[in-house]
Amino acid sequence: MIALSLAEIASAVGGQTYDIPDESVRVTGPVVIDSRKVEPGSLFAAFVGERVDGHDYAREVVDKGAAAVLASRPVGVPAIVVDDVQSALGALARHVVARLGATLVALTGSAGKTSTKDLIAQVLRRSAPTVFTPGSFNNEIGLPLTALSAEDGTRFLVLEMGARGKGHIRYLTELTPPRVGVVLNVGTAHIGEFGGREQIAEAKGELVEALPADGTAILNADDPLVRAMTARTRAKVLLFGEAADADVRAENVRLTENGQPAFSLHTPTGCSEVTLRLYGEHHVSNALAAAAVAHDLGMSVEEIALALSEAGTLSRWRMEVTERPDGVTIVNDAYNANPESMRAALRALAAMGKGRRTWAVLGQMAELGDESLAEHDAVGRLAVRLNVSKLVAVGGREASWLQLGAYNEGSWGEESVHVSDAQAAVDLLRSELRPGDVVLVKASRSVGLESVAQALLEGFGIGGDAR
Ligand SMILES: Nc1ncnc2c1ncn2[C@@H]1O[C@H](COP(=O)(O)OP(=O)(O)OP(=O)(O)O)[C@@H](O)[C@H]1O
Ligand SMILES: [Mg+2]
Repeated sequence: MIALSLAEIASAVGGQTYDIPDESVRVTGPVVIDSRKVEPGSLFAAFVGERVDGHDYAREVVDKGAAAVLASRPVGVPAIVVDDVQSALGALARHVVARLGATLVALTGSAGKTSTKDLIAQVLRRSAPTVFTPGSFNNEIGLPLTALSAEDGTRFLVLEMGARGKGHIRYLTELTPPRVGVVLNVGTAHIGEFGGREQIAEAKGELVEALPADGTAILNADDPLVRAMTARTRAKVLLFGEAADADVRAENVRLTENGQPAFSLHTPTGCSEVTLRLYGEHHVSNALAAAAVAHDLGMSVEEIALALSEAGTLSRWRMEVTERPDGVTIVNDAYNANPESMRAALRALAAMGKGRRTWAVLGQMAELGDESLAEHDAVGRLAVRLNVSKLVAVGGREASWLQLGAYNEGSWGEESVHVSDAQAAVDLLRSELRPGDVVLVKASRSVGLESVAQALLEGFGIGGDAR
């Protein structure tokens, strides 16, 4: 974090200082909520969780060198005491970004936030020092912690913003007001909690409402609910997508024989060829969003195309491809799933697996409401149409719909099977996999299918660990 005195922090968060002999002492280390991550000069924010109370670690963190504890009661060691630690953390983030002078880029959407945020960061950091959300740390605690990790030289701060309901994004934008706001898509994620797609659009659009007049809203031209957000912002609008009127556009989109998307990138500064190192066509849209941000922040189309072509996956279990020494390829996309990304992943599998035996180990796509049966059925059918050699549907009712879809599309006998759980899938694959096979593993987060991918890598000394 940028160095701030305890007095300045106390005033920024409206807190009372306790047991602080010298208020001019500065916080120079990271702001953390996990006592194990404390470093000399840290500020430790004490949260009261279900099982642990951060206040119990106050003495320990100060012994480890923390400058002070941000707490909701005096703890007998240097502390700034506030009514609510979470709000105080937010207030501190707001104070720090106001002093920082960095350009804030925020993004939201139903799917692809983390993948896109990682792309934006990998492009922007070629132009100037960039700090970005680690993993999916996108809520009211992760966001301020990320903002607080910025340093004096930070030029770009890239922040993923998640929402599970109305008002959430607005709250986050009040903590860290963005100048550039990206909305990727309005899908079905958390549709149950929101009530419907329109409600999701309502909530995601809070991001562009928060932009200043000299800011930029970066909107997906191919998603009608996102495009319509143009009417909700004072900021300039840049559209990205495959639509002909998009300012940042992909043309001639195709999959290479490895299953990696390639396309011609058009920005208002020109055109350049991109071949992504990521797998799956859904990353084209993510890459265009990143290109639009970089264009808005002054990068040329050539620089952007090069950066995108070199960008890798920074967050795990998203089309994470691992080659086993015996020639089996494991594609771990078990982080999450929705109908669009299932289709993209299956097409990538088909492209990568040309001339090889392909396996799709798929589980439930959650939160689809009334569309669930039809969507699972359609994915099962697509697997057959793409000539996937073997479909292994894992889990309960939804998995049976997947398998039935495949069956009805003409996949009889052993081409599609339904197994009850991850262990059964692992047992089946262990006995059947042959050198040269390609295995895609994908389902919604709640299914936890990464355990299958990990089990298949165990014993080969590669990438089997959880993150
Ligand atoms: N543009 C996209 N369209 C549809 N699905 C996508 C897109 N990009 C990624 N996905 C799918 O969504 C899954 C999650 O991707 P990612 O982690 O980038 O999204 P997220 O929005 O950050 O998710 P979360 O809400 O969990 O933070 C990926 O495994 C992939 O299947
Ligand atoms: Mg995420």
